[in-house]
Amino acid sequence: MKKVGIIGAMELEVSELKSKMDVQNVVDKAGMKFYEGLLNEKNVVVVQCGIGKVNAGMCVQILVDLFGVDAVINTGVAGSLQAKINIGDIVVSTDACEHDMDVSALGYEPGIIPQMETSCFEADKTFIQQAIDVCKEVNPDIGVYEGRVVSGDQFISDSAVKDKLIKQFDGACAEMEGAAIAHAAFLNQIPFVVLRAISDKADGSAHMDYPEFERAAAAHCAKLVEHLIMRI
Ligand code: ADE
Repeated sequence: MKKVGIIGAMELEVSELKSKMDVQNVVDKAGMKFYEGLLNEKNVVVVQCGIGKVNAGMCVQILVDLFGVDAVINTGVAGSLQAKINIGDIVVSTDACEHDMDVSALGYEPGIIPQMETSCFEADKTFIQQAIDVCKEVNPDIGVYEGRVVSGDQFISDSAVKDKLIKQFDGACAEMEGAAIAHAAFLNQIPFVVLRAISDKADGSAHMDYPEFERAAAAHCAKLVEHLIMRI
């Protein structure tokens, strides 16, 4: 890969990477700041896209059109949808689906995007394996799981909604951007992977500690990306 776009939704998901890179150019576009330069000798563009699917999809298009990236990595936090995936662990996307796409009134299954050949976008297989290998090396104390990332414009904090996402999509984690990034990467025919560290259980359980978990989870993911970038 010649130039890789690295996208986080929130500042805490990209600040660590920005601090480690040699920034050569900063571009403002559509309310987002794109930091172009070198991270561990690799050409990258690091950007905070903001929260939700529209911001995320637009961000990929700008990365492709303005910066010519030929791959994208999405880093950040997510809510776990599986009992075995704990706070702090990392999920590497096998694929990503938009769980709030619902045209069931017209007979489509939930999540199916009418008139598209696919609705769950497959991550690049080489990136997946590299991410798992690197994660085991640099974050040996946490679990790393391959699984489906489900995304929607809502923070999941209700057990009934969580159960529905598990039943309908067999998701490993829920967040708010990954599938939009996957969708935009698919349309531009570039490879992607979503890497998410778990900050919560997506069920509204004890959230006094959320900011602390979120910070630790984001740090795990940043460390993974920083080392992964050397291999791709
Ligand atoms: N990001 C982190 N936790 C999340 C959750 N429970 N739902 C959606 N996005 C999230």
